[in-house]
Amino acid sequence: MRIRYASFKDLPRILEIEKASFPLPWGFLSFAKELENPYSYFFVLEDEENIWGYACYWIIKDEAYLANIALDPEKRGKGWGRYLLYQTLKECAKKGAKDAMLEVRATNFVAINLYLSLGFEKLGVRPRYYEDGEDALIMKAKLEEVLHEGARDYSKAYREKR
Ligand SMILES: CC(C)(COP(=O)(O)OP(=O)(O)OC[C@H]1O[C@@H](n2cnc3c(N)ncnc32)[C@H](O)[C@@H]1OP(=O)(O)O)[C@@H](O)C(=O)NCCC(=O)NCCS
Repeated sequence: MRIRYASFKDLPRILEIEKASFPLPWGFLSFAKELENPYSYFFVLEDEENIWGYACYWIIKDEAYLANIALDPEKRGKGWGRYLLYQTLKECAKKGAKDAMLEVRATNFVAINLYLSLGFEKLGVRPRYYEDGEDALIMKAKLEEVLHEGARDYSKAYREKR
């Protein structure tokens, strides 16, 4: 498994995963814009054959904002989502980010658990943030704490231990 920057040729597969992951998925243009946005850091997780997932951040000053993350539904629940998040947060830290911020649907318990497990904390709520009226939780983490020496290193195939 490896993580690399996304490119235009990846967009059909990314859109496939996106549509399978969200009730209000991003369209082609939203992803294409991210590839051209100088503040955007857009990663894919892949094996030799296919893309498994992606994560996209905006790094502004010393804060990384997680704009999007999703994993192929067939690959979920095996530690790869955490691996993708951890590894890409590490890349954000290398680019100078000190904090990470995100918004998540208040009922997306899988994602909320994932973020809590890596040290994100709930900062507040944005009422009716999503187009369908659902609230968003705002979550924040200090990358130093998420990635500190003693933290579990998800650079190893975490899945092997399960
Ligand atoms: C969110 C997402 C990337 C997580 O990836 P994943 O591979 O499913 O999650 P992992 O197997 O890495 O699990 C990481 C943690 O998530 C939580 N989690 C995973 N599956 C869960 C489930 N079915 N129920 C509750 N919590 C769950 C757990 O805290 C888990 O840690 P643990 O196994 O040590 O208990 C993935 O589920 C996904 O793509 N979801 C749809 C898109 C989405 O919601 N993105 C987030 C937008 S804010």
